Amino acid sequence: MTHEETPEYNRNNPFMATLVTRYPLTKPYSHKITQHMELDLRGSGFTYKTGDSIGIYAVNDPALVMRLLQRLQATGDEEVITKKGETLPFSEWLSSRANINRCSKKMVSLLHERQSKAAPKASLERLLAPEGQAELKEFLDAREVWDLLEEYPEVAIEPQELCDLVGPLLPRFYSIASSAVVHPEQVHLTVALTQYVTNGHVRCGVCSHYLCHLAPLNMPVVPVYLQPSKDFTLPADHTAPLIMVGPGTGVAPYRGFMQERISVGATGANWLFFGDWNRASDFFYEDYWNHLAAEGRLRLSLAFSRDQAEKVYVQHRLLENAAEVYRWLEEGAYFYVCGDAENMAKGVDQALHMIVAEQSGQGADAAKAYIKALRESGRYLRDVY
Ligand SMILES: Cc1cc2nc3c(=O)[nH]c(=O)nc-3n(C[C@H](O)[C@H](O)[C@H](O)COP(=O)(O)OP(=O)(O)OC[C@H]3O[C@@H](n4cnc5c(N)ncnc54)[C@H](O)[C@@H]3O)c2cc1C
Ligand SMILES: NC(=O)c1ccc[n+]([C@@H]2O[C@H](COP(=O)([O-])OP(=O)(O)OC[C@H]3O[C@@H](n4cnc5c(N)ncnc54)[C@H](OP(=O)(O)O)[C@@H]3O)[C@@H](O)[C@H]2O)c1
Repeated sequence: MTHEETPEYNRNNPFMATLVTRYPLTKPYSHKITQHMELDLRGSGFTYKTGDSIGIYAVNDPALVMRLLQRLQATGDEEVITKKGETLPFSEWLSSRANINRCSKKMVSLLHERQSKAAPKASLERLLAPEGQAELKEFLDAREVWDLLEEYPEVAIEPQELCDLVGPLLPRFYSIASSAVVHPEQVHLTVALTQYVTNGHVRCGVCSHYLCHLAPLNMPVVPVYLQPSKDFTLPADHTAPLIMVGPGTGVAPYRGFMQERISVGATGANWLFFGDWNRASDFFYEDYWNHLAAEGRLRLSLAFSRDQAEKVYVQHRLLENAAEVYRWLEEGAYFYVCGDAENMAKGVDQALHMIVAEQSGQGADAAKAYIKALRESGRYLRDVY
């Protein structure tokens, strides 16, 4: 195929990438599962930069699809028409199009409407009543579609009815953990398996389960597209120092940053703040960071939150190094934060404000203005989720 004939792959027309490598970053005795994976993108035409993410369309767990087929007494060959007007076999829609992990009030309404037994009808009615809102939310959050429907086996539901009730399976994003300068035809990812228990069942997140457990190796079947980052990328100035804050999977882009800094001979200093639960089991890419640190290419500050009675987080390490962090900022450092938006990024932002307020000796208002200016000049960059 000539260059002109290469189709353009995007969110609506994903490229079928090949998973070529997958191995755990956490030790078998860890309380979490995080894996490194490498996707071959040859033929995609994607050219990525550090800090970009990849969008992935997962496939639902075949075991859950099978339970739904059994519950509906369907073969899977039935045709359904999606909300977009596409006609598909029911099993294909269940596998790759349907968000079967999420229940809705409409499903509860249908079960209530069709319920002939008095006791379950009354309990469904209670959930649907205006005063049942909180209970309904708890009920829906604790169930996936298969176990909700299995709880009411007497209610008949047609494949098309389910198709009309279930939302679409949306893509998930993963930070690219490699540099295109070093790996032009691959993207590396750092994927944490989402796992939790509700309603007595061990649940897995759709896409992390797909990537960590289900996606086959060496077959071009993983639908992906490139999700470029607007500004979360390396500075053009190779002499600029970098402060990179990324606990957990937030460390992913910095692996790409360091590959590229080294490959292009960037002379700016690099400082990584990483942490996770336990050093012995959750120190992702330990050898790589230690090697860079031993070579004097990287300063490493670690915060393993569960290695001691008191929690230690990356922001505590920033505060312990306040004078130097401030000196680096004064010398033109770029300050990056990647990972959890809900708690970590807020804690780090607060720490940054404290550091600037105290070290500048100018107080909180001046620190606010200083950090606003950092942000506006593109030197305080966040990729948080
Ligand atoms: C720009 C960006 C970059 C990202 N980069 C990475 C990355 O590099 N690595 C990475 O691993 N992830 C990354 N993520 C997160 C990733 O996109 C997915 O959100 C994550 O993998 C979970 O997706 P999933 O399909 O496995 O889980 P889902 O099926 O989406 O399940 C998650 C849902 O499960 C439910 N849930 C989770 N925990 C519990 C609980 N304890 N109790 C009850 N319900 C719960 C919640 O409803 C939650 O919304 C990134 C996200 C963004 C936006
Ligand atoms: N929205 C949320 O509720 C939420 C939160 C975190 C992660 N996640 C998702 O869970 C998946 C896995 O996450 P991950 O493996 O990247 O790890 P993570 O859960 O983000 O944890 C990484 C480290 O951050 C610590 N941490 C917890 N609260 C913090 C805070 N307020 N400030 C600073 N650090 C804090 C954790 O410590 P402790 O756990 O010991 O406290 C752990 O040591 C990702 O998909 C992520 O999106 C969601």
